[in-house]
Amino acid sequence: MPRRRKAGNDNNRRALLHAVAHIELNAIDLAFDIIARFGNIMPRSFTDDWISVGDDEARHFALVNNRLKACESFYGDLPAHDGLWQSSKETAKNLPARLAVVPMVLEARGLDVTPAMIKQFEGSGDQISAEILQTIYADEIDHVRIGTKWFNFLADKVKKDPELWFHDLVRQYFRGHLKPPFNTAARTRAGMPTGYYQPLAVKKHKV
Ligand SMILES: [Fe+2]
Ligand SMILES: [Fe+2]
Repeated sequence: MPRRRKAGNDNNRRALLHAVAHIELNAIDLAFDIIARFGNIMPRSFTDDWISVGDDEARHFALVNNRLKACESFYGDLPAHDGLWQSSKETAKNLPARLAVVPMVLEARGLDVTPAMIKQFEGSGDQISAEILQTIYADEIDHVRIGTKWFNFLADKVKKDPELWFHDLVRQYFRGHLKPPFNTAARTRAGMPTGYYQPLAVKKHKV
């Protein structure tokens, strides 16, 4: 006999999947938004890169939404915040700010928190959702890499130090500090050394 799960666990699982679906849906829009707004002022490979990101995000959304349906839910079943969309509106006219905030802060934050979510699904016996998140996690490293690559390209063009410029833009366009612990291994694989994010971290107060 299958073990009966507590309803609370199932609800938590659905809420977590719903939050991920919401992020992926926004990410599809953001990938194509960056092309529409800035593709004409950038090299052709910029557009190619973000089309591949948008393609990944659409696959991620479908994976998570299908999983939600298998768990007797669907995208739209729960309320969702609009923080991601707010950040994109605020950076709509500024490509370096958009790259700094969306892939290099928000998607990089995804790399920090996803391994714990994978463990949470595994712990609740939901191996299918854990594997979906594992797929997303691997692809997101590449998205952070693409964002960082183009940010560095712009920094080089205007002869700015990329790390210092990143600090300035994040302080200006992103509300709040970056939250440790950071997934340094994944961020390094994405081409983002600690010098970008460590100086922007929340300072922990000693008790
Ligand atoms: Fe994604
Ligand atoms: Fe992404």
